[in-house]
Amino acid sequence: MNRTGRPFLSACFLSARFLSALVVAFAIAAWAPIAPAQFGAPPPPHKAHPPMTAESVAQGKMIFQGTCAVCHGIDGSGANGPNIQSVALSMGPEQLYTLISTGVMGSGMPSFESLGEDKLWQVVDYVTSLSSHGTGAVIGNAAQGKEVYESNGCSSCHSIDGRGGDSGPDLSKVGADRAGTFLRDVLTDPGANLPLDTAGLQERSAYHAYEMYRVTLDDGKTVTGTRVNEDSFSIQLRDDKGELHSIEKFRVQKIEKVPGKSFMPSYKGKLSDTQLNDLVAYLSSLTGAASQAGGAQ
Ligand code: HEC
Ligand code: HEC
Repeated sequence: MNRTGRPFLSACFLSARFLSALVVAFAIAAWAPIAPAQFGAPPPPHKAHPPMTAESVAQGKMIFQGTCAVCHGIDGSGANGPNIQSVALSMGPEQLYTLISTGVMGSGMPSFESLGEDKLWQVVDYVTSLSSHGTGAVIGNAAQGKEVYESNGCSSCHSIDGRGGDSGPDLSKVGADRAGTFLRDVLTDPGANLPLDTAGLQERSAYHAYEMYRVTLDDGKTVTGTRVNEDSFSIQLRDDKGELHSIEKFRVQKIEKVPGKSFMPSYKGKLSDTQLNDLVAYLSSLTGAASQAGGAQ
């Protein structure tokens, strides 16, 4: 930049900087295969990674929800800790294990060595599963996805840029908030990302609005839906057709939460693989930019 200075000295300075950068780069390159993550702590001795299975991922998810979600969000999309949905693309299982077991000194990421080897590997598998559908690269056609969206009644529950229903979350910027993997899972397995156990979880409080309740009446009939309102005398549920049920409490036998369940219908088997890909591409393209003139991010 400053070309009026002392060209010779600054050339020396530059090359010294360049050299030391090279040395550092080499040191990192040399270390990379053995150093766990970038934090330098030697990995504690532990057993080898057991094969990742649907079961280990499911176990890991339970642990994650109770232990990690408070900082990383239920789906790993971040809360007061970072989004870790695609961290497995840059860190292998061994590095993840070490990071989770030793924590990151001085950063707010605690050590979880006390979980023990089995649970640590299960959590690693769950974190890995968050990015297991590859790079998150979007493979569908967003324009066709928009048609899939419009012809499948999505807007009866969801709104985009102010148009549509409100029995589900607003999707205007769902593409900025959610990874493709996550979106696909929502469509084929709705409720997969809803809390299984909401005790003590403050974050994603918006999601409590979509928790399902089942009310059993004194004649044994049941009504299932999201809770719109409740006071000492009555409870109002909205069922999956959008219909409101106002139920007087003296008729109620019991009220239960139905955890991990959503009244969003599953589109598994109803939409073809291509349609799903297109729909995910469309949802991923919704970043709220339309309403922010020019799409400034
Ligand atoms: C008290 C909050 C907190 C809890 C609980 C927590 N983390 Fe973290 N985590 C953090 C913070 C903050 C960072 C960022 C560390 C840094 O600055 O590098 C982090 C970083 C990470 C990273 C590395 C992200 C990256 O891109 O480098 C992973 C992976 C991770 N955490 C996984 C977990 C898992 C798995 C659990 C549960 C067993 C967990 N964390 C529990 C706060 C938390
Ligand atoms: C009967 C109402 C209903 C219909 C129809 C419906 N959804 Fe949903 N949707 C919900 C509810 C409730 C949630 C929140 C709970 C959950 O994640 O399962 C949700 C969640 C979502 C999410 C996750 C949003 C987030 O921020 O995590 C996406 C994406 C989504 N729906 C897309 C769609 C698409 C696309 C369609 C049409 C193919 C559709 N939905 C049809 C009710 C519905």
